[in-house]
Amino acid sequence: MQKKLLLATIVGALFIMAAVTMVYAEEAKKVPEIPGITVKDAHPNGCVDCHRNVPDRADYRLSTKITEWATKGVDDEIMERAKAAWPTASLSGKHPNVAGMIKSQKIPTTCLSCHGEDSSKPLYRVLHTIHYTGGADNHFISSYKGFCTQCHSVNLKKPPTGTMEVKIGKES
Ligand code: HEC
Ligand code: HEC
Ligand code: HEC
Repeated sequence: MQKKLLLATIVGALFIMAAVTMVYAEEAKKVPEIPGITVKDAHPNGCVDCHRNVPDRADYRLSTKITEWATKGVDDEIMERAKAAWPTASLSGKHPNVAGMIKSQKIPTTCLSCHGEDSSKPLYRVLHTIHYTGGADNHFISSYKGFCTQCHSVNLKKPPTGTMEVKIGKES
């Protein structure tokens, strides 16, 4: 009787060990879903694929946002982030109205005419700050997992490989 109980215990323990090992093996096999690297890129045109007009929800287009900034002024949270990103720039809190430019040209190329790397307001600093501040409260992090490759593409095919670019696209 006691032998049978011992055997049952051992068999039971072996089952549990096997199950645990299988779960760990599955975990190890799981590859992070990095857009354009391990899975298809759902936003190949960068900015404009996320900043779209979504009927019944909101108009997320940058032309709409920047028109709002040019007419009503910039909201405090964005101003705070812009000041931190561009400590030497003097900001009024009103964006020039560039909606026409944004609609007719590719983004973010068109932004770079004023927000170039060597200007006092380089685009990358304000964009990295806006999309990465605030942890889980930031929708870029919580809804899009914060991947660099949402905006950047990494060239792994055409030598010289390993180069990184910014994706571009036109608003529709
Ligand atoms: C994968 C989706 C995604 C991509 C790609 C993306 N953004 Fe965003 N962006 C967001 C989200 C989500 C927010 C809101 C972040 C928050 O919750 O504070 C945001 C916020 C912003 C804001 C602040 C104003 C606003 O609309 O909330 C600007 C400006 C902005 N993005 C510009 C850009 C530009 C320019 C690009 C391309 C270089 C870009 N974004 C690419 C998702 C994206
Ligand atoms: C014609 C030049 C010009 C273009 C084009 C332009 N900007 Fe700006 N941007 C400015 C100036 C000037 C400011 C400073 C506004 C102020 O005084 O607050 C600014 C400020 C900003 C700010 C900080 C908030 C604010 O208004 O102060 C963000 C974010 C920004 N720009 C994003 C963009 C993006 C994204 C694009 C392209 C879709 C773009 N800008 C295109 C000139 C431009
Ligand atoms: C919301 C879009 C967006 C995201 C997300 C993003 N970038 Fe960028 N990044 C840009 C843009 C736009 C530029 C500026 C391109 C230019 O000036 O020509 C840039 C420029 C850069 C540069 C060059 C800046 C320099 O010093 O000249 C580096 C490096 C970079 N990004 C790294 C990253 C890394 C690492 C991540 C992820 C942690 C990331 N980026 C995520 C939009 C983004």
